Amino acid sequence: MKRAGEKITVLTAYDYPFSRLIADAGIDMILVGDSVGSVFSGHDNTLPVTMDEMIYHTRAVVRGADKTLVVSDMPFMSYQTDLRDARYNAGRLIKEGGAQAVKLEGGEPMAETIRSIVAIDIPVVAHVGLTPQSVHRMGGFRVQGREDEQARRILADARAVEEAGAFAIVLEGIPSDLAREITASVTIPTIGIGAGVDCDGQVLVIHDILGLCDKYSPKFVKRFADISSTVSAGIGDYIREVKAGEFPTEEHSFK
Ligand code: KIV
Repeated sequence: MKRAGEKITVLTAYDYPFSRLIADAGIDMILVGDSVGSVFSGHDNTLPVTMDEMIYHTRAVVRGADKTLVVSDMPFMSYQTDLRDARYNAGRLIKEGGAQAVKLEGGEPMAETIRSIVAIDIPVVAHVGLTPQSVHRMGGFRVQGREDEQARRILADARAVEEAGAFAIVLEGIPSDLAREITASVTIPTIGIGAGVDCDGQVLVIHDILGLCDKYSPKFVKRFADISSTVSAGIGDYIREVKAGEFPTEEHSFK
């Protein structure tokens, strides 16, 4: 698709119903993101997410999307400790979760880890730039690569993960011109989030595009629907009808 100039579409999913809707709409790839920690569990960041939680959500997503490529995120501390842990936990997401590939955060320092997972035939998506698991080092969720030195490092990160065997790279929260330069200088697809239009594809969090989570609204998010108001209206009607004795009617009762 990169060679053909066809944009790659990616959305996150964490459960069966959304996974079915997303897959049936014709998405190219579903990411079971560790953003599940924020948009599903209500944490302030992704750091508390566990392997067992990722496996649980990955299973549900795979059930809804059996013909779509499903990539599962490796949560914080599931791959940073050593290569054995990284291989073992990547294997769990494939074997127990049913994903076809895993994603992990980090550039050059993670090259050895990516190489080690790819060596046991588990495809890896890399993730560079704004890496949410490094929130404390970055001092918040801040755009990365605005200064020359940092931009050079992110470009080197992208080249290192390609060289290590990653089959795609998520570029998050970097200036558009840096994303364009990276996209032109690697042969694997770049999937942008807050990285401008010149990436080979785009990924967003499903709750963000549907207006399901308004805790944070980063500049790069576009709301394509507002299902919060539909859901609230439906719940409000239910409460009103039950209180008024209007529900259930004969139609919803047994004789
Ligand atoms: O966890 C996630 O959802 C992600 C994407 C936003 C890239 O890593």
